[in-house]
Amino acid sequence: MIHSGKKDICTIVCVLIFGIIFIYSWKSHQLQNNISRKIFPPAKAVTPGGQLCRGKPAQNTITPLEDNRTFIISPYFDDREGKVTRVIGIVHHEDVKELYCWFCCQPHGKIYVSKAKIDVHSDRFGFPYGAADIVCVEPENCDPTHVSIHQSPHGNIDQLPRFEIKNRKAETFSVDFTVCISAMFGNYNNVLQFIQSMEMYKILGVQKVVVYKNSCSQLMEKVLKFYMKEGTVEIIPWPINSYLKVSSKWHFMQDGTHIGYYGQITALNDCIYRNMQRSRFVVLNDADEIILPLKHPDWKTMMSSLQEQNPGTGIFLFENHIFPETISTPVFNISSWNTVPGVNILQHVHREPDRKEVINPKKMIIDPRRVFQTSVHSVLRAYGTSVNVPMDVALIYHCRVPLQGNLPKESLIRDTSLWKYNSSLIMNVNKVLRQAVL
Ligand SMILES: *[C@@H]1O[C@H](CO)[C@@H](O)[C@H](O)[C@H]1NC(C)=O
Ligand SMILES: *[C@@H]1O[C@H](CO)[C@@H](O)[C@H](O)[C@H]1NC(C)=O
Ligand SMILES: *[C@@H]1O[C@H](CO)[C@@H](O)[C@H](O)[C@H]1NC(C)=O
Repeated sequence: MIHSGKKDICTIVCVLIFGIIFIYSWKSHQLQNNISRKIFPPAKAVTPGGQLCRGKPAQNTITPLEDNRTFIISPYFDDREGKVTRVIGIVHHEDVKELYCWFCCQPHGKIYVSKAKIDVHSDRFGFPYGAADIVCVEPENCDPTHVSIHQSPHGNIDQLPRFEIKNRKAETFSVDFTVCISAMFGNYNNVLQFIQSMEMYKILGVQKVVVYKNSCSQLMEKVLKFYMKEGTVEIIPWPINSYLKVSSKWHFMQDGTHIGYYGQITALNDCIYRNMQRSRFVVLNDADEIILPLKHPDWKTMMSSLQEQNPGTGIFLFENHIFPETISTPVFNISSWNTVPGVNILQHVHREPDRKEVINPKKMIIDPRRVFQTSVHSVLRAYGTSVNVPMDVALIYHCRVPLQGNLPKESLIRDTSLWKYNSSLIMNVNKVLRQAVL
């Protein structure tokens, strides 16, 4: 009785111990799965570099997440302040409270989930949606090639969009200057001015122009194709109005719109990171603006001189000056240009005078590696100081509708700085028109 009882107790205790060990190890495995280290079996190989990564490869420039409040543009590797993945996106400033990075670690495609810091840029100008950095510290020994963003640490990885993390591999500069045109919209058809700006940029030393394209005319489409084939233009499709109500104003008018000026600020930030490794400088201006050097023949010599005078600076601000398209001078009237829609900038050489109460807005040439966050007229977060470039060194030639429309021609300042380039500009524009338009 006692003997057999001892045996029974031993069996029960043994079963209990095994049971507890089993349950405990299963639970701790579950806990691990849920909290930090979701280990999913690797799936089939996809692309080189992203072998074994799961999730649905993102197909478009703007990818809405399930919450409809978060829009992902692209993740970028950034090791300037510790190793992080910085995801450029657009979020609703109140509604999006939590996001998680689901990293795909190499070489086995293991998934590691970590919580993101959501940094909505301060320059929202009253709109409910704004540019955001969704920043995740990368796990050690992970070397992720791809990441998915999700509002929860739980979910089905196979249902989530997967993004390649750009800027992972070190590269050497391939160009000196890249111009970022942040949003081409409203069935843009100012063809002649666009071609003139492009040819001026090239004369001044630009090798690459990135255009975030929302909409443009058929003819403009042809011109962009020409420049893409030439290797100058890179088009980033920017269908932001498919997801958000966009305003064509930069500040919120209480009109139910979601985001300002076609998401310009997000595009500019994306453009900086996209070109961080390949371009020595990034130029943030609109297609109707040209930074005109007044002491140097081109941007390269101007920037060397500015950098020499301002060591430790990577942000150079240039003053904007309006040359109204309503005030013309009857020169450079080139007959073959008259059939092309748009403004002939060579005929607009009168600029509006400064106003006492108005500070002229600035546009920038930056060293992208020094910038973390940018706005339109200044940077929000960067290494080092910003320098105001004086008027005798350069100004921004900005040909558009007047800001001081009541002023007669006599009250404007005649400024023919642009004409210095007339012969090469005319020759180059003619070449493009012959090949792409006429
Ligand atoms: C998300 O946005 C789309 C397009 O605007 C809309 O059709 C859909 O109903 C939205 N979904 C949610 C959950 O709000
Ligand atoms: C350009 O010349 C044409 C005739 O050759 C004339 O009709 C037109 O008004 C001129 N335009 C300007 C802006 O001078
Ligand atoms: C146009 O450029 C040529 C050659 O650079 C120059 O000689 C000429 O003075 C310029 N024309 C004007 C009106 O400035």
